Amino acid sequence: MTGTSIAIHQVSRPHGMPGAEHFAFVEESRPVPAEGTALVENIYLSVDPYMREEMDGGWELNRPLEGRSIGRVIESRTSALAVGDLVWHGHSWRTHAVVDPSTTRLLPVLPGVPLSAHLSVLGGTGLSAYVGLTRIARLQPGEDLFISAAAGGVGSAAGQIARLLGVGRLVGSAGSPAKVKHLTERLGFDAAFDYHDGPVGELLHRAAPQGIDVYLDNVGGEHLEGAISALRDHGRIAWCGAVGQYNSTEPPVAPRNLYDVVGKSLRLEGFLVRNHMNVRDELYEFLVPHIRSGRVVPDETVVEGFEHMVDAFLGMLRGANTGKMIVQVSEAT
Ligand SMILES: NC(=O)c1ccc[n+]([C@@H]2O[C@H](COP(=O)([O-])OP(=O)(O)OC[C@H]3O[C@@H](n4cnc5c(N)ncnc54)[C@H](OP(=O)(O)O)[C@@H]3O)[C@@H](O)[C@H]2O)c1
Repeated sequence: MTGTSIAIHQVSRPHGMPGAEHFAFVEESRPVPAEGTALVENIYLSVDPYMREEMDGGWELNRPLEGRSIGRVIESRTSALAVGDLVWHGHSWRTHAVVDPSTTRLLPVLPGVPLSAHLSVLGGTGLSAYVGLTRIARLQPGEDLFISAAAGGVGSAAGQIARLLGVGRLVGSAGSPAKVKHLTERLGFDAAFDYHDGPVGELLHRAAPQGIDVYLDNVGGEHLEGAISALRDHGRIAWCGAVGQYNSTEPPVAPRNLYDVVGKSLRLEGFLVRNHMNVRDELYEFLVPHIRSGRVVPDETVVEGFEHMVDAFLGMLRGANTGKMIVQVSEAT
């Protein structure tokens, strides 16, 4: 197999919001798989908020970057993977990757389920939502829930999963009027607000005047402060992320009411989805029938073209996505 391959490298460290100047597209000869490995042509690449944190030191400069990816095997030197197999692996930010079967997942063939769903509602994104609600917050039927960054990947999955779990009042926050409309008109939220419209605590109080039982926190800061204030006694916070802080150059001021966690007997628990991979099969069993029936819709923004990968990543940090941000780099069929 001959030809070229393109990989994206990080070339410098950002201070605050990153830009295109922190990345470089590097063209090289297409990698040749060694014995026991296979060559994959990537189809869908994931861009995620945690990558912003990796840019501060986790990612080595001038090396191909990592991330979740779906691709097709185009050359194989292992009996574990055949040409044509569709696989999930961790070598994103490149058009082609050499994969080791021990760290590669053969994707199940699921008629009626779009391939990209393995990165969105069935991927780490959907699993974060499912684990946050079922394992961390332990949401009970009839309980009232607030989700921040609700129109994003985790948020839109969480809203749909919460409905299936019998949530009571479902409230979300997002960064634009169009996203607020998306939440209430397409994703079944009872109320939603644009967090730019005023102090989050006040906006949340208006959207959930009776209070909430559970908060799935994707944003941190002022959102967390508002939620602590709105939570009823014995409420729970599943702390998934703090995307409101990842580009900040200053330490967060909020939440200023953290001690109310004691006064209200709240439970605040953070989690990392990578510690809950044993729940993935359960997520598939739970969601796949609902995806097939149309009750759950993988909510995605798919940007086409590898050349737009950096723009998609930067755009996601600024809120350009509705649902999970995914980059399509080659044909899925
Ligand atoms: N714990 C884990 O294992 C785990 C796993 C996956 C994800 N996460 C976390 O979950 C959260 C959501 O991740 P995702 O992959 O689903 O990303 P996402 O929500 O699809 O995309 C990020 C969103 O963040 C919002 N945002 C950006 N700056 C913001 C700010 N200053 N204040 C409020 N919202 C802001 C934007 O939406 P708006 O237009 O609404 O501003 C943007 O669309 C992140 O915090 C991420 O780190 C954690």
